[in-house]
Amino acid sequence: MASINTLTAGQARAVRLNLGCGSDIKSGYINVDKFPCSSEVVEADLTDLSFPEDYADEILLSHVLEHFGYSEGVVLLAEIHRVLKPKGIAVIEVPDVAWCCAQFLGAPEPNQYTDPRMDYSTNHRWGLWAQSLWGDQHNPGLFHKWGYTAHRLLHTLSHVGFPTVNIEYVPSHGVQCLSAKAQKAA
Ligand SMILES: C[S@@+](CC[C@H](N)C(=O)[O-])C[C@H]1O[C@@H](n2cnc3c(N)ncnc32)[C@H](O)[C@@H]1O
Repeated sequence: MASINTLTAGQARAVRLNLGCGSDIKSGYINVDKFPCSSEVVEADLTDLSFPEDYADEILLSHVLEHFGYSEGVVLLAEIHRVLKPKGIAVIEVPDVAWCCAQFLGAPEPNQYTDPRMDYSTNHRWGLWAQSLWGDQHNPGLFHKWGYTAHRLLHTLSHVGFPTVNIEYVPSHGVQCLSAKAQKAA
């Protein structure tokens, strides 16, 4: 298993981190997860991000921030800001919680009991729409603890120090998502 300490030398190329990678292991990135699905993944808890300051050119955090409580999420984003080099880019994707709430409220109840962990159906409330709000809960890393609208994500990223933030609405993981690009100051 790789560790963060073995990955600090020889950084001539751009350093890209894929934090909370799950099974989305990206080539050219240091892929990190608390529950690694392969030996290529660095096992680390993002609540203790031990990368040095001004270390990474790009940090990807895709469908991970919502797995942190409100104040833990602020700490994680502040740590990402610290670890990025000047002008480094954070790419952060989360479900659009307002859109997910609307889908949940607009869908009918199923007409029998369903197991939400196994049911990705979109034609009733307790499949994908419930999972988009509370996570699919297959392991302790897959519970949602907070949600973001574009407004909230923008203000949280500004609060931790990013002067430039652009947010787009994108389809991903079966739902409408927010994709933020935040750049650290020069
Ligand atoms: C929904 S998956 C997203 C996976 C991938 N990034 C993607 O976009 O498909 C969330 C991932 O975050 C990881 N995770 C949750 N809490 C974590 C923590 N405290 N430290 C490291 N990884 C964590 C989970 O293990 C899981 O692999």
